[in-house]
Amino acid sequence: MHVGPFRRMANVNGEITPLEDARISVLDRGFLYGDSVYEVFRTYSGVPMFCHEHFDRMDNSARLIHMTISQSREEMLDQMRRTARAAEVPASQDIYVRWHVTRGTGALDLVPARDLRSSFVIILKEVPSWNPEFYSRGMRLAVTRVRRNPVEALSPDIKSGNYLNNILGVAEAIELGADDCLMLNPSGIVTEASNSNVFFVIDDRLVTPSAKSGVLRGITKAAIQRLSAEAGFSVHETSIPASHLERATECFVTSATREAMPVASLRLENGAWRELPPGGGPVTRRVAQAYKQYVDRYVRENSLLRLL
Ligand SMILES: Cc1ncc(COP(=O)(O)O)c(C=O)c1O
Repeated sequence: MHVGPFRRMANVNGEITPLEDARISVLDRGFLYGDSVYEVFRTYSGVPMFCHEHFDRMDNSARLIHMTISQSREEMLDQMRRTARAAEVPASQDIYVRWHVTRGTGALDLVPARDLRSSFVIILKEVPSWNPEFYSRGMRLAVTRVRRNPVEALSPDIKSGNYLNNILGVAEAIELGADDCLMLNPSGIVTEASNSNVFFVIDDRLVTPSAKSGVLRGITKAAIQRLSAEAGFSVHETSIPASHLERATECFVTSATREAMPVASLRLENGAWRELPPGGGPVTRRVAQAYKQYVDRYVRENSLLRLL
């Protein structure tokens, strides 16, 4: 299927095809068990944003699941470039790049064979176009009954190919009339949305759930924390009990593809909706603007990373 000015393509272990034709083995452990790790970045003016940080986080996810990645970073980047060339991406076109590394293909056995070689899949497509209302007004987040995986069971720091916990969260949120979930950990502490980190203004402080609460270490989140500190208003990483959401006056979510996206309505644990400033309050707007400026700076300073 042609979408936009280039073709969506996939690369499975070096074999490049249109996305819809890409195939993996049914014995691939990523398919069978979600035994895989993945990352997503997007480009701005052809420059992959936070490319090295995404590779570093993938290495950390692989380390946490005791998986050896057989392909080097340079090899993977080279495969991404080959895929982008095959997709005939115009130099001016920004793209979404997702890559999975699975523990490999082997016997139908939970215990991985010792000689497995990891497989990779690269998916290259257009950058998601979010509902414009998510920016002009803001998203609706609902606190769900589905809890985030506890750190001790399956650390949310592992960006794995198994997103069932997040899928259950967002499915419940949609049933509740929201766009996304706001998951609590088993102790009732706020963690994150299904695929983004969250920030709040509570009692005039900009706060975000601490790593200990059980959240993925978001790369956008980390950048926003650095930028906020530079701009003189620090972000407090802390434990946020669900009851504190009743005092939230602003909220936004962050991710590589959403950047900083305002939240206009929060469904609290008791079912009441808390309305927040449409389009984001002053702190949210300032952060979103600072992130956009930072992206421009990053692109200027990292032009050598350009994929094409
Ligand atoms: C569960 C989860 N939390 C947070 C994020 C945001 O991370 P990043 O800013 O690195 O895109 C993601 C992104 O995929 C995610 O899946």
